Amino acid sequence: MGIALPESMRCVEITAPGGPEVLRPAERPAPVPGPGEILVEVAAAGVNRPDVLQRLGRYDPPPGASDLPGLEIAGRVVALGEGVTEWAATDPVCALVAGGGYAQYCAVPAGQALPVPKGLTMVEAAALPETVFTVWTNVFERGALKPGEVFLVHGGSSGIGTTAIQLAGARGARVFATAGSADKCRACEGLGAERAIDYRTEDFVAVLKEATGGKGVDVVLDMVGGDYIARDIEVMAPDGRHVSIAFLRGAKVTLNLFPVMTKRLTLTGSTLRARPAAEKARIARAVRDEVWPLVEEGRMKPVVHATFPLEQAAEAHRLMESSAHIGKIVLTVGP
Ligand SMILES: NC(=O)c1ccc[n+]([C@@H]2O[C@H](COP(=O)([O-])OP(=O)(O)OC[C@H]3O[C@@H](n4cnc5c(N)ncnc54)[C@H](OP(=O)(O)O)[C@@H]3O)[C@@H](O)[C@H]2O)c1
Repeated sequence: MGIALPESMRCVEITAPGGPEVLRPAERPAPVPGPGEILVEVAAAGVNRPDVLQRLGRYDPPPGASDLPGLEIAGRVVALGEGVTEWAATDPVCALVAGGGYAQYCAVPAGQALPVPKGLTMVEAAALPETVFTVWTNVFERGALKPGEVFLVHGGSSGIGTTAIQLAGARGARVFATAGSADKCRACEGLGAERAIDYRTEDFVAVLKEATGGKGVDVVLDMVGGDYIARDIEVMAPDGRHVSIAFLRGAKVTLNLFPVMTKRLTLTGSTLRARPAAEKARIARAVRDEVWPLVEEGRMKPVVHATFPLEQAAEAHRLMESSAHIGKIVLTVGP
């Protein structure tokens, strides 16, 4: 073990399902790292839309996970559980967790931690894991996006969207995005999108058909669902892959599946949080090999819209639910 284990910690709890006001600062016993886990003193924790769903009572933590919100952290290792050899006390790490990020200490399966990329602050590092793991496994594993292919991400100004635009661009794809205002569209283009489409004023199907000379889009990363699914299918190129990661406009739709057959399309999707630790560790290794070099070369950078002290997590959720942000919202956790 490294430093003496802390006994208690500050955290933010979900006191009941409801609005942002149900997030309340609290004091709890600090977690004890189990076999194969490390204990991290959290410097910063990313806020993600799934945290809002959990707060509303619509996204329960998987069995065995902390009931505290928070899916990603950055900080320093303070203790090692049995059998951990790859990390040492004081190592700066960031990590994907299944819960418990809104806290001063967090127990993390060792395989889900990554070194803080060179040149990044703890706040920037905390903004990476959830979106990078999600984009990697959905766009590049399930969607198999290749250099030169055409990629479309809906919600381009979201945490997920800003990561997807940069990563797909850095790996040689032609990138398009949709977003809900002219400012958000300019931000997407600033991150490398060839063209961002304001879905409130433009029809993305028409714009993309024209931009691709009628060929269409090879891979779609969709968090919107609802009426978007049929329009995505319409604008997809032969052998295209459609990956669903959320359904902000609803998961139940009536579809004409004929084009799926004639264009040989693949409709797929995934969630990250409930996957086994071994699977997340596998994704972590791929991210370390394939994405971390791009971050360290400055070819992609987390877009941090705002930070809030941990105790103001409710304010952070209000901002996220307003959808006024571009990129990530991060909580800072003082000693
Ligand atoms: N499956 C997985 O493994 C996984 C993992 C992480 C996140 N997710 C999901 O991915 C999504 C993005 O997460 P995030 O943390 O990046 O969230 P976020 O930053 O809050 O972004 C959500 C975005 O959705 C857009 N949006 C909201 N309602 C919309 C609607 N009705 N039509 C079109 N666009 C709409 C908003 O921008 P506009 O102003 O442009 O509308 C906003 O930028 C969330 O739905 C989350 O649950 C899935």
